[in-house]
Amino acid sequence: MNMQKNEIPWYESWFDRNYLQLYQHRNSHEANAQIDLIVRSVGLKKDQRILDLACGDGRYTHLLNSRGYRTVGLDLSRKLIDEGLNKYGPLNLVVGDMRAIPGTYDIILSLFTSFGYFNEDSENYRVFESVKSSLVDGGWFWLDFLNPRFIEENLVSETVTEISSTCQVIERRQIVKNRIVKDIIFFDGSEEKRYRESVRLYSRNELESMFTQAGFKTAGCFGDYQGNQWQEHAERTIIYGKKRH
Ligand SMILES: C[S@@+](CC[C@H](N)C(=O)[O-])C[C@H]1O[C@@H](n2cnc3c(N)ncnc32)[C@H](O)[C@@H]1O
Repeated sequence: MNMQKNEIPWYESWFDRNYLQLYQHRNSHEANAQIDLIVRSVGLKKDQRILDLACGDGRYTHLLNSRGYRTVGLDLSRKLIDEGLNKYGPLNLVVGDMRAIPGTYDIILSLFTSFGYFNEDSENYRVFESVKSSLVDGGWFWLDFLNPRFIEENLVSETVTEISSTCQVIERRQIVKNRIVKDIIFFDGSEEKRYRESVRLYSRNELESMFTQAGFKTAGCFGDYQGNQWQEHAERTIIYGKKRH
């Protein structure tokens, strides 16, 4: 996992069209369920400024805007943003880094495991600081993250997926120290492309500590997109909190 000098970090190369192909089952049904949960948990209003942090191709930005919410999407991947603009039409999507968020918002959403990407804990914590400085007092931070326990208990070390008649993907997963690491190999015709995903396995307690340290008061924690309360075997860790005045 140690990076060679000058090697591009995994999160700068993986999020392209192939990522969208592999995760196409992450559909609007699931996204709409989470939006319903956000709306009823924080009492989301139409005049509030929302940031979809690490928005990918803007699937959430698009759905929020369709419901009349003022949403900006920010993502590091120019490729995914361009895919989204082609797919959904005009959307307010900007290229940027989650460690240095521009602008001010009433609520910031980090959805579908868009956290824990950096090698150092201090670097991941910088995201909390960046979120805090871009929120108004009393603003909300919503973090939809994995649950390490669920990952450990359900880890399938290798899967093969047929994406199309010519494209096959092998995914190899392992837990290395405190990270879930996935090697992804695309075979498309005669072309082979390799990627890696590596996410720090933050527990609920560790996430709550970061919320508190960064000056947030946590308001709740769900274990799935339907809004069931978190328990140790839950599929997700969805925590939200309010910036203290
Ligand atoms: C798992 S995807 C989730 C995308 C989107 N939230 C969704 O639910 O479809 C993670 C996203 O984080 C983005 N990302 C990775 N590193 C980033 C960074 N340093 N700053 C901003 N976005 C980043 C990737 O480009 C990718 O679009």
